[in-house]
Amino acid sequence: MSLALDFLSFVFIPLLALFVVYFGKHLHKHETLYYIVVAIITTAAGIFAVYAQVEGIDLASSSPIFYAVLFQGHATFAFFVLVMFAGAFKNKSKPKKVLFSVRRELAILGFLFLIPHAVLLVWLALSNFNPTGTLAFLIMIPLFVTSFRSVKKKMHPKAWFKLHKLAYWIYALIFLHLASITIIFNLLGYESTLELILGFVRFLLYTAIFIVYTVMKVRNTPRKKVTPASA
Ligand code: HEM
Repeated sequence: MSLALDFLSFVFIPLLALFVVYFGKHLHKHETLYYIVVAIITTAAGIFAVYAQVEGIDLASSSPIFYAVLFQGHATFAFFVLVMFAGAFKNKSKPKKVLFSVRRELAILGFLFLIPHAVLLVWLALSNFNPTGTLAFLIMIPLFVTSFRSVKKKMHPKAWFKLHKLAYWIYALIFLHLASITIIFNLLGYESTLELILGFVRFLLYTAIFIVYTVMKVRNTPRKKVTPASA
């Protein structure tokens, strides 16, 4: 059961995409309400994560479903996959329009869903000398703050776009994070051959997502025309 739960990202991504298709307009219209509800849930989960650490409760084995849904990183990853793909679909295509209309909301909610994951696992990650997730989280902070419309309005558009180019570093770090967990830490700590194999399968699935994203992004980004004046 808990081995199947490790694949939850690949269930959350299509579910979230369906949510965006059917309720994207609702999300866009009532974004603040969504932020407040999700922030309450994830802050409560973050506080519970601290309590679990202090009390030495191993959530992964005592409540595997609760752990997988809120703490293992699958929810935050699903949000960021849709944020990434919003920038990769062809301009004016239907998926681009649908995803782009709620890109800010998805990025903000994705960051909020990162809170319980980061709070519960930061010591484990850093004590294993794996700073990939933590670095992604730290780079996300200024992007999260400046994603809110009220803050964005106060910035020069050029400065805002320059800052938000950091998103590509975040995507790279997220890939390294998932690759290191499913390969290196899987090799170091697997309990059965099945667990080892399933770790590699997850690595291949995560890699496929990032390869498809990169190919689409490169293909669909309009090239700047080089004129004699600009060359
Ligand atoms: C402070 C930031 C972060 C820390 C400390 C952290 C730490 C960890 C640790 C220790 C694990 C292994 C957990 C386990 O085996 O059950 C893990 C797994 C995971 N993390 Fe993170 N992480 C961080 C940020 C992120 C970010 C930014 C994302 C994606 C947006 C992410 C997505 C995931 C996913 C999907 C898994 C499950 C991987 C798998 O086993 O298939 N994490 N993280």
